[in-house]
Amino acid sequence: MVARVETVAFQGVEARPVDVQVHMAGGMPTFTVVGLGDKAVAESRERVRAALHAIGLGLPPKRITVNLAPADMPKEGSHYDLPIALGLLVVMGVMSQTDLDKFIVIGELSLDGQINAVAGALPAAMAANARGRGLICPEACGPEAAWAGMDEANVGGILAPRSIIALVNHFKGTQVLAEPQPMKATDARSQPDLRDIKGQEMAKRALEVAAAGGHNMLMVGPPGSGKSMLAARLPGILPPLSPREMLGIR
Ligand SMILES: Nc1ncnc2c1ncn2[C@@H]1O[C@H](COP(=O)(O)OP(=O)(O)OP(=O)(O)O)[C@@H](O)[C@H]1O
Ligand SMILES: [Mg+2]
Repeated sequence: MVARVETVAFQGVEARPVDVQVHMAGGMPTFTVVGLGDKAVAESRERVRAALHAIGLGLPPKRITVNLAPADMPKEGSHYDLPIALGLLVVMGVMSQTDLDKFIVIGELSLDGQINAVAGALPAAMAANARGRGLICPEACGPEAAWAGMDEANVGGILAPRSIIALVNHFKGTQVLAEPQPMKATDARSQPDLRDIKGQEMAKRALEVAAAGGHNMLMVGPPGSGKSMLAARLPGILPPLSPREMLGIR
C-alpha cells in the first residue's frame, strides 16, 4: 500500500506543497528515499529508523520506498523526517491515513523519538491554512505557527507534539494535545502613553476620534508643537492587534 503525507518545500519564504509517498512491499529489506533531496533529506532515513525503533516500532524487514513528489523540485532541510515517519506509521497500520489527510506535517526527529524544532513554521502554517489543512509541527514551533491564525473552518488546527508518542496518543484520543498560543510580540506597557501630553485637548480628542473610528488624520503645526509626539501615542489607545494583523504590518 502507499501512504501519503503532505509537507512543504521552502523556496525563499514561499512554502511549496510536497507529497511524501511511502510504499512498502515484499522483497529485499531496503529503505530508500528518492525525489531530489539534499544530504539532510538522505540522512533522514537514519533518524527515522532510530526514532521508530526508540518507540518500540522497528521497521519491518520489507522493501520501503519513499518518494518526495514533485520529484524534479530540489528539497532541502531536515523537516521531512516527521512526514516520512508518519507515512511509515500509516503503512505499518499504527496511524490512519484519514487522520493525516487533514494536515501538513513538518518536523525533525531525534534518535529517541522526540520532535526537534525546524525553521519555517510560520510559512508552513500559512500554506496549510491556504489549503484548508491543519499543521503538525514540533512543540517548540507551535507559538510561531499559531501566528498564522488558523481559519475557524479549518478542522485540523495546529498540533505541536513533543514526541511521536504524544502525536500517536493524540490521534488515539488517550492524551489530547492543546492548541498552541501565539507568542507575544510586544509588551503593551512599553508603549508611550497619551498622558505624557500636556494640554492639547483638541489634538488629543482628535486622536481618540481617529482611533475609535479608524479614520485618517492630518496634523499641521509649527516644528516642536508635538505632532510626532502625538502620533507616537496613537498605538497606545488602539486595541491590540490580532496575530494576522501583526503579520500584515511587519
Ligand atoms: N503638548 C506637549 N506636551 C508635552 N511635551 C510636548 C508637547 N508638545 C511638544 N512637546 C515636547 O516637544 C518635543 C518636540 O515635539 P515633536 O517632535 O512631537 O514636534 P513636531 O510637531 O513633530 O515637530 P516637527 O514638525 O519638527 O517634526 C517633544 O518631544 C516633547 O518633548
Ligand atoms: Mg515631527
